[in-house]
Amino acid sequence: MKKTLLIGSSGQIGKLLLPMLAASEIPTMAMVRDKRKLPEINGVDVIEANLEEEFGFVFNNCNSVIFSAGSGASTGYDKTLLVDLWGARKAIDYAHSNAIEHFIMVSSRGADNPDNGPKVIKPYLVAKYFADEYLIQSGLPYTILRPGRLTDDDGTGLITTKRPNDPDKQVISRLDVAKIIWRCLQSEAHINKIYELYKGNAPISEVFV
Ligand SMILES: NC(=O)c1ccc[n+]([C@@H]2O[C@H](COP(=O)([O-])OP(=O)(O)OC[C@H]3O[C@@H](n4cnc5c(N)ncnc54)[C@H](OP(=O)(O)O)[C@@H]3O)[C@@H](O)[C@H]2O)c1
Repeated sequence: MKKTLLIGSSGQIGKLLLPMLAASEIPTMAMVRDKRKLPEINGVDVIEANLEEEFGFVFNNCNSVIFSAGSGASTGYDKTLLVDLWGARKAIDYAHSNAIEHFIMVSSRGADNPDNGPKVIKPYLVAKYFADEYLIQSGLPYTILRPGRLTDDDGTGLITTKRPNDPDKQVISRLDVAKIIWRCLQSEAHINKIYELYKGNAPISEVFV
């Protein structure tokens, strides 16, 4: 049975998502830079690879891809370019060569128009913008998720895809984002769609059927 490749498995969203995939018996290939960062989970194969190197081999026997990697706030713009933009671009190319049937990209609020975002994260938003554009133009079936600022609370399971006017309300928990990815993966209803994601009032199960 073909697998779902999770790029960014050792990340905070990745580590919440892996047990959900395993619990629903979705065969998973977890890509990490360092295997020691992940516990053993039944049904999850772990493969070491780096987005800054050649990593086409991780796509073998996979039919869907979740890209939830990111260079993070503690690295410089060089890593924003090499991981968030170039790493994503390479992943999309490999996905294309491997006839991947669904590519789910964890992008960001503001990637639609970096000129309107906070100046301090503009290079990051530009990287996300071009990664998203490259995916859209690739012809691969995609879902692009653009969460607001990520929080570590348990989430409410209640969301909105409409951006709140108040910037302080433009937040969503990583757990709710992981649940949304899990639902998108199992439905064709969200193919070739782009969603912003925020804490809101609608159950995830109603928005992401
Ligand atoms: N923070 C926010 O408020 C916010 C808002 C909207 C969207 N996002 C986006 O949401 C996504 C996931 O967020 P998160 O909180 O789960 O991120 P995270 O905890 O920082 O995880 C990032 C993941 O990317 C991996 N990674 C970094 N460089 C890599 C490389 N060269 N090769 C392979 N893997 C690499 C990390 O691996 P290691 O464990 O090896 O470092 C880690 O697994 C990111 O794309 C982020 O840009 C974040």
